[in-house]
Amino acid sequence: MKILITGGCGFVGSNIAVFLKKRLKKSKIFSLDNLTRKGSLLNRNRLKKLSIKNFNYNIENFNKLKSLPKFNLIIDCCAEPAIEASRKDPNRVFSTNLIGTFNILKKCIKDRSNLIFLSSSRVYSIDSLKKLVSKQIIRNPIKIKKTIDENFDTSAASSLYGFTKLASEKLIKEMFYQNKLKYIINRFGVISGPWQFGKQDQGFVSMWVANHLFKKKLSYVGFGGYGHQVRDILHIEDACKIILLQISKFSKINNITFNIGGEKKNTISLKSLTQKAQEITGNRIKIRRIPKTSVFDIPYFITNNRKIKKFYKWKPSKSIDQILKDIYIWLRHNKVIIKYFK
Ligand SMILES: NC(=O)c1ccc[n+]([C@@H]2O[C@H](COP(=O)([O-])OP(=O)(O)OC[C@H]3O[C@@H](n4cnc5c(N)ncnc54)[C@H](O)[C@@H]3O)[C@@H](O)[C@H]2O)c1
Repeated sequence: MKILITGGCGFVGSNIAVFLKKRLKKSKIFSLDNLTRKGSLLNRNRLKKLSIKNFNYNIENFNKLKSLPKFNLIIDCCAEPAIEASRKDPNRVFSTNLIGTFNILKKCIKDRSNLIFLSSSRVYSIDSLKKLVSKQIIRNPIKIKKTIDENFDTSAASSLYGFTKLASEKLIKEMFYQNKLKYIINRFGVISGPWQFGKQDQGFVSMWVANHLFKKKLSYVGFGGYGHQVRDILHIEDACKIILLQISKFSKINNITFNIGGEKKNTISLKSLTQKAQEITGNRIKIRRIPKTSVFDIPYFITNNRKIKKFYKWKPSKSIDQILKDIYIWLRHNKVIIKYFK
């Protein structure tokens, strides 16, 4: 089987590429990535060592995509994934995330390839998520019991990023229906682990550990600046495992949308993340309070994994402590990486 991973030099794409290369011995794995994300060059070098070829093409250029060989499966991990880019660089979010998907779909139709699409928990409406958390309990949202399943409201605003993901999902269903092709849509929550070049507006878990380790500053932004926002975190290895399972069962399980996340037991607030980062690195750093909340920020998200568990008998295996430890070890043992974060 020939598999193309778009965004293959990004955090998720590169980890999936390496994971599949080591396990699907009879398959050929390729990447497409124009290396715009800081750190992607380092991931490209990892792929090179495993003889995984990267096509350095812009996903927005269909003529380039058209010239690529035929693949049996495309795993679409290419995106501008930062929520705040919805405000700072809307053109890029729209063209990379939506035109990019459109181009990938045209390529799939041309070659009759199947698709696994990396969507996001950010497709859900911001206002409906905010309603889960009243002002009184924002200081202790960890106590909320509600988890978010695939039927949660998507009808209102969710950021341009969320919109491009939801619109991509609709486009996949539309174009694959007409052409009788098969897809899986995975709405992932926060994923983290080694090889994530985290920054303020994307990849906060790895950035939290790195900034403690290298004694750089951090800020609690929004909701009063207390660090009470809550998310569930999924280890990248658990994400890779479910993708491999999906590939192995593709002919039986397809044309479905799943929520996938770390779920309740892997839930943490920013404040507790600080405590854990202090313990693991032995360093305390200054954390500024920025009370003002971005229109795109949400106080709370915990994934309901019921559907994905039922279909694949899969569940997250790695705890938050394990995720943080793996990031810490990765940071400590890679001199080139240290240069990136410093
Ligand atoms: N990391 C998470 O927590 C998370 C959660 C939910 C969904 N996702 C989704 O998973 C996918 C991968 O996310 P990630 O965290 O690995 O992001 P990432 O930024 O690390 O990877 C994206 C890659 O795409 C490449 N790229 C960007 N624009 C491109 C273009 N125009 N042409 C070709 N390549 C381009 C970048 O260079 C980068 O290497 C995205 O679709 C994202 O929306 C990620």
